Amino acid sequence: MSLPALSNDHHCQPINLFEYEQLAKKHLSQMAFDYYSSGAGDEITLRDNRTAFERIKLRPRILVDVSDRYLSTSILGQPLQLPLLIAPMAFQCLAHPDGEVATALAATSAGVGMVLSTMSTKSMEEVATVNHKQKSLQWFQLYIHKDRGLTRTLVERADAAGYKALCLTVDAPVLGQRERDQRNAFTLPPGLHLANIASISGLDIPQQQGESGLFTYFAQQLNPAVTWRDLEWLQSISPLPLVIKGILRGDDAVRAVEYGAKAIVVSNHGGRQLDGAIASLDALTEIVAAVDGRVEVLLDGGIRRGTDILKALAIGAKAVMIGRPILWGLAVGGQAGVSHVISLLQNELNVAMALSGCTQLQNVDSGLVTLN
Ligand code: FNR
Ligand code: LAC
Repeated sequence: MSLPALSNDHHCQPINLFEYEQLAKKHLSQMAFDYYSSGAGDEITLRDNRTAFERIKLRPRILVDVSDRYLSTSILGQPLQLPLLIAPMAFQCLAHPDGEVATALAATSAGVGMVLSTMSTKSMEEVATVNHKQKSLQWFQLYIHKDRGLTRTLVERADAAGYKALCLTVDAPVLGQRERDQRNAFTLPPGLHLANIASISGLDIPQQQGESGLFTYFAQQLNPAVTWRDLEWLQSISPLPLVIKGILRGDDAVRAVEYGAKAIVVSNHGGRQLDGAIASLDALTEIVAAVDGRVEVLLDGGIRRGTDILKALAIGAKAVMIGRPILWGLAVGGQAGVSHVISLLQNELNVAMALSGCTQLQNVDSGLVTLN
């Protein structure tokens, strides 16, 4: 795939997602790079999300005819070209002026899903227009604000704009303590706003000495009192299927199913919330067993290689979400950069399937990995 925004010199083009991070760093302000890359506290969970993938080994099957391989699947009945969704991530205009619109265009053209954050810097209506011709999977990620009226408006707008599910993030009753953001007194630069919220409520990310403005926004505006009961409220005001993101325990997964979730996302928020929390991949086996096929299980956190996707699917995820590498692609080359990041993962997954003796995702079973 050609990348118009990058140099014509192919030696300069990143060939994997780690190289994208290195290059993106040069395109981003220190404040933006730190916000995107950092985790909470000592970043133990952030690192563990990666080492969990490194610990698990593949057990390839040999002498299978792998001439034709199919990577397509579906989530909540919607087709995907790859078992991949772009995770909800705030403030994408820090990476590129086209922000979430560029990400959505790249997702749509690759046939992967995209989850738009409540905290986007392009409005949900503008991002949804990308999807008017090609009906690809777009979900809206919800943060429940203390202001119920504002929350209800967000939910109603998401439905009206055509989002196909509400993805409720449940691992952030308060924001995790990210020390680099505190040091930088993270805030949005002039011209960027909470595009879904500022115009209707006047709320925005504050500027504060010695503290992350995002941390303060969460403390002041998000509702830390949300409980299971609120899932009933949410379902009473919205016809959209509910996806719960941020589950790390089998018992919580079962409860999510009982409360009506149609899918769950095993996630520790990319190590940005509770430091020391279990790596999401390490939580997957227990959760898949507990859910027992009743809902679709997704996983995010630390996916950087096609082989990581294969491992997550072998343990029982139906699809994965990918976070930071999308921002690196966006910073390096806008829509083309995001498309290239997706195509790198697609190629890696394709090769990994062939080398493991899999022709389609249904062949990717638990026998393909060792858990130790
Ligand atoms: C996030 N994440 C996130 N999650 C969410 O539910 N709402 C949000 O607004 C955000 N914002 C956000 C911003 C940035 C910069 C990052 C890196 C992450 C968490 C995200 O959806 C996902 O869980 C992790 O990013 C997955 O881990 P990897 O792929 O980044 O390792
Ligand atoms: C974050 C929030 C916005 O992780 O979810 O930065």
